[in-house]
Amino acid sequence: MCVIVQSCHCHVSRLGFARRLAAKQPMNIATFASCCIDTALAVGANDSVQWVARFSDGTAVRLRAINAGDTDLEREFIMGLSAETRRLRFFGTIKEPTPAFLRQLTDIDHWHDVAFVALADLGGAEHAVGIARYSLSSDGTSCECAVAVADNWHRRGLASALMRHLIDIARARGIRTMHSVELASNYAMQRLADNLGFLPIADPDDGRQVLHCLQL
Ligand SMILES: CC(C)(COP(=O)(O)OP(=O)(O)OC[C@H]1O[C@@H](n2cnc3c(N)ncnc32)[C@H](O)[C@@H]1OP(=O)(O)O)[C@@H](O)C(=O)NCCC(=O)NCCS
Repeated sequence: MCVIVQSCHCHVSRLGFARRLAAKQPMNIATFASCCIDTALAVGANDSVQWVARFSDGTAVRLRAINAGDTDLEREFIMGLSAETRRLRFFGTIKEPTPAFLRQLTDIDHWHDVAFVALADLGGAEHAVGIARYSLSSDGTSCECAVAVADNWHRRGLASALMRHLIDIARARGIRTMHSVELASNYAMQRLADNLGFLPIADPDDGRQVLHCLQL
């Protein structure tokens, strides 16, 4: 059963559907499917773990936890997304992130809110090219996730790599379910979620939204 408890600010305005669904629609969940890209693990505490993800085209990115010093990085990432990618990630709620919102996204406790950023060396400086996060429900049993990848990094396996780490952490911490809410027209997210073993549920009250749920 996928039990969804109001969790987070991952999606700002999307929680109505998740709450309605939790109230009336239990579901069966598939298991998490493994991902094929090569990822090297480095050691460290939970909020200082780093990975290197290498892609078949030879590029590599560094994955690490987001921290309070990343507000400029986060802002640059959000503002660098195309209007369409930003719309899909934030449901049209974010035109330009406020300082308070940036703090909310970066100054996190790595327990109720967990977030990873993928950093690529572009012209000698590291820039964020992907961010995945989850926020824990008030009772600690479920979490809501969100992910976005910079447009020119799409379809290399980056979101899959970020989400695998997010799922691993949530699972290791005993969280029972992970869910995301997206527009029904978001085929990229649907494919990603399907590959990771999430199951979709259409919103009976709003055909524009789909909830994906993974039993951890
Ligand atoms: C959804 C998103 C995160 C996927 O990122 P990505 O790094 O391109 O994803 P991956 O490369 O790991 O691909 C995962 C799967 O999705 C498929 N996919 C990616 N983009 C796709 C697209 N536009 N259309 C169809 N399938 C797509 C990939 O082919 C892959 O499936 P496969 O291995 O079976 O071929 C990215 O498109 C994005 O940032 N979208 C905007 C933000 C968003 O929608 N977030 C979700 C709601 S929070």
